[in-house]
Amino acid sequence: MFTRLATTLKWLVFLGILGVAALLFYIYSGWYQIGADVPHHKVTYWMLETLRDNSIKAASSTVEIPSDIDSPERLLRGGPDYNEMCVSCHLSPNLSKTDFSIGLYPSPPNLTDSLVDYRSQAERRQAHFWVIKHGIKGSAMPSWAPGHDDERIWDMVAFIERLPELSVEQYQIITQRASGSSNHHH
Ligand code: HEC
Repeated sequence: MFTRLATTLKWLVFLGILGVAALLFYIYSGWYQIGADVPHHKVTYWMLETLRDNSIKAASSTVEIPSDIDSPERLLRGGPDYNEMCVSCHLSPNLSKTDFSIGLYPSPPNLTDSLVDYRSQAERRQAHFWVIKHGIKGSAMPSWAPGHDDERIWDMVAFIERLPELSVEQYQIITQRASGSSNHHH
């Protein structure tokens, strides 16, 4: 009985070492295709997506949503920032593709698409704030915290929530920066 257990354990250790050696071999071999134009294997994609979603969910669950998140002032302040910093990847009612939107992998979500989302509104607001503030590792989504305070990030959260409903004209009006008001914050 005891010797059987010991044999099984020895095999497990042996297989573990073999696994680590194979992994190291693969990492050094150069066989992995790092090009952004070669999609991940389905399993890798699932792993990365699940890792991302659960990490964002856990990290953003304690974010406090400001009570004036629905105010028109936020929407109007967030618009110009979105148009200057985000549109090249996340698109707009009058911009349906860019070199970034078609060339990046993982591709940036088109934020003008109406949200088909498993998250509640509050969860989505928390996640959006967190993602804009911190960015997403290993993707093209930058952290915008350097240079932008939380209030400014909330303004963009307010704006992207309304973005899918905006017509081309409304988008143009809301994203216009009033002259002389580029850094007008609180
Ligand atoms: C250079 C390209 C790029 C720029 C510029 C960029 N993003 Fe992103 N963003 C991405 C990519 C790529 C993802 C998706 C990453 C992934 O799938 O893991 C992303 C994800 C997001 C998400 C998550 C969407 C969701 O539903 O969870 C939000 C929100 C977001 N970006 C907002 C912004 C805002 C606001 C700006 C401007 C301040 C911005 N992004 C600028 C590339 C960009």
